[in-house]
Amino acid sequence: MSLTRVQKAAQVAGRTMADRHTPFIHNEWYVVALSHEISRELMSRTVLGRQLVLFRKEDGSPVALDNRCGHRNFPLSRSALEGDTVVCGYHGLRYNERGECVEVPSQCNCAGISIRNYPLHQQGPVIWIWMGEPEEADIDKIPAMPMLDEGWVTSEDYMHLKASYVYLHENLLDLTHLSFLHAKTFGTPDYARAKFDTEITEDRFWLKRYVVPTRLPPVWAKPTGLEGRDAARITTSDFVSPALHIVHAEFYDIALDESERPDQRIKTAHIPTPETATSTHYFVVHGRNFALEENEVTGFMHEQLMAAFDEDVVGLEAMEELLASRSEEDDFFEISLTADAASVAMRRYLKRRAEAEAAERTSPQAAGGAKTALASA
Ligand code: FES
Ligand SMILES: [Fe+2]
Repeated sequence: MSLTRVQKAAQVAGRTMADRHTPFIHNEWYVVALSHEISRELMSRTVLGRQLVLFRKEDGSPVALDNRCGHRNFPLSRSALEGDTVVCGYHGLRYNERGECVEVPSQCNCAGISIRNYPLHQQGPVIWIWMGEPEEADIDKIPAMPMLDEGWVTSEDYMHLKASYVYLHENLLDLTHLSFLHAKTFGTPDYARAKFDTEITEDRFWLKRYVVPTRLPPVWAKPTGLEGRDAARITTSDFVSPALHIVHAEFYDIALDESERPDQRIKTAHIPTPETATSTHYFVVHGRNFALEENEVTGFMHEQLMAAFDEDVVGLEAMEELLASRSEEDDFFEISLTADAASVAMRRYLKRRAEAEAAERTSPQAAGGAKTALASA
C-alpha cells in the first residue's frame, strides 16, 4: 500500500520511538507489588518477562526469588514456605531467602546450587524491586513519591493492563484525551483546547495544562467545595522514570485573591511495571493535602479516580488488541500532533535506554558507544 508524504514521515519518525516491540529496561527500580499483597503465602508475579516468587520472612521482610527451581523448573510458588526457606514441591530442594540451596534430600552436598534473588525495598504502600545487575542496585536511586512523606492522606490500588507500559506512560503525558476518553468521568470539554507548557530534559518530561476558568468534575468539585463555581484546574504530568509517573493538580476559586485561596492539591503516582511486552502491572498511589480527617472523601475520590483510570485501561487494551491483530507491519504509522511533543521525546528516551542496555548485554564494548550516544542525545 502506498503511503502519503505525512504518513511516510510519521513512519520514519516512529522508528525512533519505543513501542510494544522495544526491549525492557532492566536497570531501574520498579514496583513489584503493593505492600499488603506480599504475605506468608507464596505468590507468583511476572516482571519484565521473568516469573518471580514473592513472600515475607518471619521477621516481615519481603523476598523475591526466581520462581523456577534450579533442578527441573518446578514453580516455587507451588511449593512450601517453611520458616524462611522454600521447599520445592517436586524433589524437595530447599532454598533460603538469598536463593541458595541449603538442602538436597537425595544427596548430602548442595554446594553451588542457587537461583537468583532480587533486591527489594519497601516504601510505605509499595515494594520496589531491582531487576538489573545486582551490584548496581542502590536504594538511594528509588524515585521519591512526595505524597508519602508530606503527611498527606493516601490510598492505593492495582489494575492489570493488557497493553504495553510504553502506551500507559504516553497516555499519562497526553492530557488532551481527557475531553474524550474521560468525558463521562473527570474530563471536561474545555480540557483538550486548554493552554499548555511542555518541558523536556534528557531524562525527565513534564506537561502542564491550565484549564482556567472551568467547572470541575464531581471528583474534584465535591471534596474542594468548588461545585458550581468558576475554578482553575492546573495539572502537571511528570514522567519521573520508566517506572513512575506523577500527576500533580491544584484547584482554586478564580474569584478569590491568591492570598485567600485554600491550598488544595492532589498528587497521583501512576506506577507502570512491565509484566510482558504487551501487559503491565498498573499500580496507583493517590494523595491529597486537604480534608485530611474525612474518610468518606478518601473513599469517594478513590472510587471516582479508579473509574476514570479504568477508562484508560479499556482504551489502551482496545489499542493493543487492534495492534496485535494486524498482520502487516510495513504500512504502520502513528502521526504525532503538537500536543504529543513531550510523549514523543519520552518514547525516544525509552528506546535509547532500552537499546543502550541491550547493546551492553550483547557486547560490553558496544555499550561504551551506546552510553556515549545516550548521554549526548
Ligand atoms: S524441580 Fe525442584 S527439586 Fe526437582
Ligand atoms: Fe486518562
